[in-house]
Amino acid sequence: MAAQIIDGKAIAAEVRQQVAADVKSLQASHGLTPGLAVVLVGEDPASKVYVKNKAAQTVEVGMQSFEHKLPADTSEEDVLVLVQTLNADKNVNGILVQLPLPKHINAEKVLNSIDPNKDVDGFHPTNVGRLWIGERTLVPCTPTGSAILAKKIIPNLKGVNAVIIGRSNIVGKPMAALLLRESCTVTIAHSQTKDLPAVCRGADLLVAAVGRPEMVKRDWIKPGAVVIDVGINRVPGENGKTKLVGDVAYAECAEVAGAITPVPGGVGPMTIACLLQNTVTAAKMQYGIE
Ligand code: GUN
Repeated sequence: MAAQIIDGKAIAAEVRQQVAADVKSLQASHGLTPGLAVVLVGEDPASKVYVKNKAAQTVEVGMQSFEHKLPADTSEEDVLVLVQTLNADKNVNGILVQLPLPKHINAEKVLNSIDPNKDVDGFHPTNVGRLWIGERTLVPCTPTGSAILAKKIIPNLKGVNAVIIGRSNIVGKPMAALLLRESCTVTIAHSQTKDLPAVCRGADLLVAAVGRPEMVKRDWIKPGAVVIDVGINRVPGENGKTKLVGDVAYAECAEVAGAITPVPGGVGPMTIACLLQNTVTAAKMQYGIE
């Protein structure tokens, strides 16, 4: 039987609706309109598209959007000064510095200078620590979105065998922390894992986040498993054009899986929706709400 397709676009729209409702209720109860500041340094075309989409969706859910576009030759010191200004600005509840930064800027230094309570990416070491010890915190957006999609199919993840392929700080590791919090039995597989297909075949929930086009094959999938594909890879398509594919060989795996996310239209749309959700959470944390 063919897998259920998990519609990330529709589920992201539901998340945004909830965020818009939360914004309205914060305005009514505390006279507070959450604000998200995005810092873009340079001209990376993909980053420019992301930032434009973020700004549009921020406004759409009723929040304030602050965009800071700086030239590629901006000094590290100037970026750090801007982050300090945003840290101190009461109208700014969330700060996102778009990655990648130009090579002459130390990204780690910049990210670590963001006030952890405004760190809507959830990349600051303080927030990483809070996540692992189970405190209320800001959790990275892509894993949060992936977990929401998984829970649409398996609402109670207790005891589920989850395998995550990829151990990045942005997806793999926080995904493991989130699924552990849901009481999954979590395996993180990576480039040094022995017999990766066999490890994956043990997964009731498989999350692929490696950045290798269509690496996960049909015979890696346990029949009926839920497959969440975080990969977004641009590869040559037909007629000299390019196309987007995930880390999972979609068509063949969809014949075996119970449910699967498509690329595009799966995890991708969830990331910005969860960023908006994090901005509301950040505002609430700053005002001691909930
Ligand atoms: N560049 C691509 N994705 C992201 C993201 O989730 N956060 C940041 N800060 N930069 C990105």
